[in-house]
Amino acid sequence: MSATEMSAPMDISMPNITECNVPEQEAAIFEPPAAASAPPPPPPLINEGKVLVSVEVLLKPSSTARAEDVRVAVERMLEKRSMSYADGPIPVPLDDTFLVDNVQRICICDSDVWLEKQDILLFWQVKPVVHVFQLSEEGPCEELSSDGQLASFHEWILPAKEFDGMWESLIYDSGLKQRLLRYAASALLFTEKGVNHVLVSWNRIVLLHGPPGTGKTSLCKALAQKLSIRFSSRYPQCQLIEVNAHSLFSKWFSESGKLVAKLFSKIQEMVEEENNLVFVLIDEVESLAAARKAALSGSEPSDSIRVVNALLTQMDKLKSSPNVIILTTSNITAAIDIAFVDRADIKAYVGPPTLQARYEILRSCLEELLRTEILSNSEFQDGNHFFIPSFTSLREQLNSTVSPDTAYPFHLSKQLLAAAEACEGLSGRALRKLPFLTHAALANPYGCEAGKFLHKMIETSRRECSEMPE
Ligand SMILES: Nc1ncnc2c1ncn2[C@@H]1O[C@H](COP(=O)(O)OP(=O)(O)OP(=O)(O)O)[C@@H](O)[C@H]1O
Ligand SMILES: [Mg+2]
Repeated sequence: MSATEMSAPMDISMPNITECNVPEQEAAIFEPPAAASAPPPPPPLINEGKVLVSVEVLLKPSSTARAEDVRVAVERMLEKRSMSYADGPIPVPLDDTFLVDNVQRICICDSDVWLEKQDILLFWQVKPVVHVFQLSEEGPCEELSSDGQLASFHEWILPAKEFDGMWESLIYDSGLKQRLLRYAASALLFTEKGVNHVLVSWNRIVLLHGPPGTGKTSLCKALAQKLSIRFSSRYPQCQLIEVNAHSLFSKWFSESGKLVAKLFSKIQEMVEEENNLVFVLIDEVESLAAARKAALSGSEPSDSIRVVNALLTQMDKLKSSPNVIILTTSNITAAIDIAFVDRADIKAYVGPPTLQARYEILRSCLEELLRTEILSNSEFQDGNHFFIPSFTSLREQLNSTVSPDTAYPFHLSKQLLAAAEACEGLSGRALRKLPFLTHAALANPYGCEAGKFLHKMIETSRRECSEMPE
C-alpha cells in the first residue's frame, strides 16, 4: 500500500459489505483453518551465528533497582552458568544478593519454537536477550459512556499484573504466537528506522478472526503485554486501550459520534508522547460492519454511518503515528469485509484447538488441579513437582520400541490423550471449563484420584460435544 493509499479517506460506500471476499494476496497470509496442515514455525532469529533467545526478568513490586543494572547482572549470571536453554524458569542464584533482593522471576521464553527434535539449546548456541520489567498493579480505568451504562473503553498500563502468564497459557501448535510477535516487532522496527512508506509499505493493524472462544481477545491482550516487555527499552511506557465497540454503536448514535471523538482525542494525547507505546484493541469489529450495513439498508438512522465513518477516519489518522498498534478481532470466519480490514497487514485465522493443543490445554489444567491438591496422584509426581509428559514426548513414547509402561508415567497420559481426542470441536474456552464441569459431576469431589478424574472427564467431554449447537 502506498503512502497515498494509507492516508486516503476510507471508502465507506462499498456496495455489499457481506459478500465481498478477502482478496487473494491477502488471504495468503491468513492462518489456514485448523483442518489444514499447520504451517512450519518461523525460522530462528540468528545473530553472529547464534540463536536469539528471550530471557524475561520480572522485578519484585518493591524493587527500585534500575532495569539496566538488573539486565547486566542477569547477563553476567547467565554467562557464568554455561547452562542449557529450554523454556521455563531459571532459579535466581541465592548467592547473588542483588538479584535475590530485586528479582521475582527469570524465565526463558520461546526457545522451544526453534527446536524441532532437540529438547534444549546449549549455551554456546545461544545469545540471550534479556528483558527486565515490573508489573503494573493498577487495574483497568473505565470511561463511562454518556448514558452512564456501558464503559466506552478500558485502559491498562502495561505490562499489567492482570495479563501476567496469559501469553504462556494460550496454546496454538502452528507457530501463530511467534508469527504475530515477529510481525508486530518488524512493524515497530520499520517505523523506528524511518523506512519510507512509499518504497516499502506496511502498517500496524492486526486482525485476528475465527470462531468464538478460540482466544482472539486474550491473544490480543497477551500480544500487547509481550510487546510492552520486549520493547521496554525503547518505549518505557505502554498502555492498552480496549474499545467497547458495542457501546460505541449504541442506539444513541448522535452521542456515539461524540464518544468516538472523545476516545480518539484521548488516544491522540497518549500517542503524542513519543516514549509511549499505545495499543488500541477493538474487539468484535463486525459490529462496525453490522452498523454500516444497517445504515446502508436504511434500517438504522443515517447517524450510524457517520459514527462508523468517524471511527475509520480516526483510525486512519492514528496510523501515521509510529507508536500505535491497532489490534482487532472478529468472529466472522469466512469473508470479512470491513473497510479497515483492507488496511490490516497482519491477519490471522485463529481456529479451534488441534489435538496437540487440546492435550496441552488439558495438561495445564490437570497440573493446576494437582498443584492445588484438588486431585491426587503419585504417578505424575516427581518430588514436589507434578510432571505430565508433553504431547511430543508422549507421541515419541507411543512410537518407541522400548516398553513405554516402564519408562514414564504412561497410563494417565494415555487417558489424557483419550480425553483430548474426545473433545474434538470444543473451543479453547470450553476446554478450560471442562475440568471444572468434570469435578462438579463427581460423586465424591474430595481427594479425587487423577485416573478416576480423567475417566470422568472423557465422559463429560463427550456430553459437552453432543450438546454443542450444530
Ligand atoms: N488456544 C487456546 N489455548 C489456551 N486457552 C484458550 C485457547 N483458546 C481459548 N482459550 C481460553 O478461552 C478463554 C476465552 O478466550 P477469548 O475470550 O480470548 O476468546 P475469543 O476468541 O475472543 O472469544 P469470542 O469470539 O467469543 O470473543 C481464554 O481466557 C482462554 O483461557
Ligand atoms: Mg473475544
